This record gives sequence, C-alpha cells and structure tokens, in this order.
Amino acid sequence: QLVLSTLNATEIIEDTRRLNIPEEFGSPNDQETQLALQGALNSLQSKDMISYNINEQIVHVLTPEGSQIAREGSHEARVWSAAPFKGEHSPLKLSDLKIKVGEDTSKIGQGRAFKNGWIGKEGDGIVKLMRSIDDKTQVELQEIESYGTLKAGDKALAEVRKRKLAIQRKYLWFTVKKGANFRSEIEKLETDLTVEMLSSGSWKTSKYKKYNFDAEGTPTNGGALHPLLKVREEFRNIFFEMGFAEMPTSNYVESGFWNFDALFVPQQHPARDLQDTFYLSEDPSTSLDPPSELYSKVATIHSIGGNGSTGYRAPFLKTESTKLLLRTHTTARSANMLYDIANQPGGFKPTKMFSIDRVFRNETMDATHLAEFHQVEGVVADRGLTLGDLIGFMQTFFGKMGITNLRFKPAYNPYTEPSLEIFAFHPALKKWVEIGNSGMFRPEMLEPLGLPSDVRVHGWGLSLERPTMIRYGINNIRTLVGHKVSIESVEKSSAVRF
Ligand code: PHE
Repeated sequence: QLVLSTLNATEIIEDTRRLNIPEEFGSPNDQETQLALQGALNSLQSKDMISYNINEQIVHVLTPEGSQIAREGSHEARVWSAAPFKGEHSPLKLSDLKIKVGEDTSKIGQGRAFKNGWIGKEGDGIVKLMRSIDDKTQVELQEIESYGTLKAGDKALAEVRKRKLAIQRKYLWFTVKKGANFRSEIEKLETDLTVEMLSSGSWKTSKYKKYNFDAEGTPTNGGALHPLLKVREEFRNIFFEMGFAEMPTSNYVESGFWNFDALFVPQQHPARDLQDTFYLSEDPSTSLDPPSELYSKVATIHSIGGNGSTGYRAPFLKTESTKLLLRTHTTARSANMLYDIANQPGGFKPTKMFSIDRVFRNETMDATHLAEFHQVEGVVADRGLTLGDLIGFMQTFFGKMGITNLRFKPAYNPYTEPSLEIFAFHPALKKWVEIGNSGMFRPEMLEPLGLPSDVRVHGWGLSLERPTMIRYGINNIRTLVGHKVSIESVEKSSAVRF
C-alpha cells in the first residue's frame, strides 16, 4: 500500500531505500525486510499493477574491532601515541605499555609500529621516532564507516576484510514503475469461478488472479512404499527383463507335503522340527490329501528309492505330509508350479519363473533375524541345462544389481545336487559375504512331479532383507520391520536402482 500511494504521487520510485517504511516492518537494511518488500512487489507485479527492477548493492560494515579503530586509531597508532619522543623522556617500559593500551593492542601494535618506523627500541623500552604519523588504517575505516566502501578499490577492501575489520553485506533495493493495471488501492482478484458468478453473469466483468506456475504448492499427504517393497520392485524388474514370469505365492500356509516331501526333504530332517518350523495347531491343522498318483510316487522315492536312487529307507507317514505349516521357503510354491507345468495340457514347456514373498522360520530373533522374512527365488526349467547355465544365470542376474564379483561354494540342500552357496565381495566390509543359495534340483524331486527325464531345473534364492539393509545402510532389522519402524524414514527413503 505504501508503494502504491507513493507511486500514485510520484509516478516512479527510483530507490525503495528512500521509502519511509514504517518501523514495525523492521529496519530497511535487514535482509528480512528486503525479502518481505520483494514479496509484496511480486504480488503487485503479478496483477500488472506495477513493474520493478532489482538492484543490488554491496556495502562494507565495520566489525566491533573495526569501529574501535575508526574511533581510537589503529593498534600501532595507539602504541605510538603512548610512547614518549626519543630523548625527551625515559623510554616506555613494555610492562607499562601493556597497562596503558591493553594487552592485545600492545601485542598487535608493536610489530607494525616498528615496521612503519614509528617507534624504536631504547634499553628495555620504546620511544617515538616520528613527531606525527599518518594512521592510514583509521582513515580507511572512517571512510568505510561513512560510505560503506573505499575509493582505493577492491584490493584495499579485501585487505580490510582479511584483517576482520569489516564484513561485506548485500543490500537489495528496487526501482518501481506503474504497471498497465495500476491503481492506488489493492483490489481483490477472483481466484475461482463460482456457480454464483456463472449464474449472475458477473464472471464477464470480474478480474482474475493470474496463475502462478512457479508456486511450490502444499506437500501432499500421500502413501509411501516401504523400503522392502521398493527393493522388491527393482528385483521384479530384473526378473522381467530376463524373461521370467511371476509365480503366485499368496498362500503363507502350505502342507508338509509341498513344503518338504515334494522337495525330497526326508520326514526325519531337523528342519521339520517344531524348533524350526511353525505348525498350525487348529482350525484346521491338517491339509486335504495331496494328488494320489503324485503322492504314491513321492512316498516311493522317499522310502524305497527308484531310478538309481536308494531313497531314505525310513518310514514315510501321511500324517507328516498333511500337517499344515507356515511355509519355510518359497521353493514349496516352485515345486507346485513345476508339477503344474509338467502336467499342463500339451505337456512340459521350458519355463523361467520367479517369486518374491514372505516365509517363516522359528528363529531366535536378533539384530539381523526375525521369524519372518522375504525370499527372492528364481527357477529355470529346460532340457539339457547344466551347472554352467546356473552359474551364468546368476552372474547375469547379480550383474544387473551391480554385483559382478561372485564366488561359489559347494553346499547341501536335500532337494538340489550339486548345491552352491553364492558369495559376493563386499567392497565396504572388504570381505566375501554370502548372498544366496542355489542348485540343480535332484531327479528324486523332479521325476515324481512328472517332468520328462531330460529336463533339468535349476534355482537360486536369496533374502530380500539383506540387500535392502545394505542399500539403505540399516544395521538393525527392527528399524526396517516391526513396531519401531519410523513412518518418516519410510516416506523419505528413495527409490532403488541397482
Ligand atoms: N530354498 C532355498 C533356501 O531357502 C533357496 C534355494 C532355492 C536353493 C532354489 C536352491 C534352489 O535357502
């Protein structure tokens, strides 16, 4: 309003520093006041009421030490004036100089006064060598105090700044002109078309506020994907790029048959113990019977063997097979999918499948283990696949995550032979870390499922949590999963590209 009424009277405001800004808006030299003024000018300009130019001025302002020198002279001048003239009095002792001008001034001033030839040493004291001196520093600082700059130029100013006697300040000021829609009052512009404006026809004559396409807008309260889901998305993309199809893994509950028997895990295997696997206790606690033809084939291979395998020669009980449990790996679903593919109309076709979903194990929980986690699993089935194909696949797969340095260690899984643990070199930890498990599925598993005998299947699995924790620099699983997860960190965690 002040700008408008001034403009109304004077047509142009050359320099907003000369406006009489009321005190409650703050000092005109404050950055805040300048920004507030600029905000007001922007808003008037957006209505075409005014137009303005920004001018910038750099001024120098004295520091407390600088203003003291402007008033009382430089340290060296103060030392000079404290000393008696040579030959007229006995020299001024250094201890007395300290008392007269203060410790700091005595220390800083002496050196310069000597260098300038203003004073000299006599005995254990100092004397004046000059009748009068030209205290350039004081003169310069006085000039800065009155004009904010030095005629001597930038080099001299830089020297003063270096000595911490003055600092630079930037002042903004504006030149303001009337705009096409100038009026002396701010009118309220419409921001929205309303039903009333349309029905009364007032919209035709109303004035509208211009859109501000630079406005930042208020932050929206949207949902956010959990870090695990972001990393999962990246894994899914890698699998899709490599031509894999996603397996349906929505059932957390599996039977002992699909989780273990079909994978040739002996019914006496310790992984099936209560300490390792969660079983359902009721409602229901058992599954329906597995397909009978399949079941008898699996029962035979376990208890008697066949096709060159001796089997386990141990009791094989239906009651173990129909126990319901929380799946301990997604490989249970992979086995089920392989069965479907072997028995689909038209027979077996080569396939590449993957899944990323939750599994459950009765583990002791600590900083890196929970009773549930996610498995990332890939399975490839084709005629004549070799171990070399598996290794090649894993090199391509992990290579897409930026992990190129892989090593493999022989391992044991009941359902794969050979089995390989996958290790990668961790550049930050400077050691080899285990990143997954893999293998060629055994014929004892594949043949009962109905796969042709020349079909080989290989697979590999890893956890989703480990790469997620590495990617986001998390070292306690509980900051990622559970009641201690901070929603803010979930919202802020960035998307993942390996
Ligand atoms: N199921 C294995 C695990 O839980 C991973 C795996 C999948 C191993 C496929 C071999 C083949 O660690």
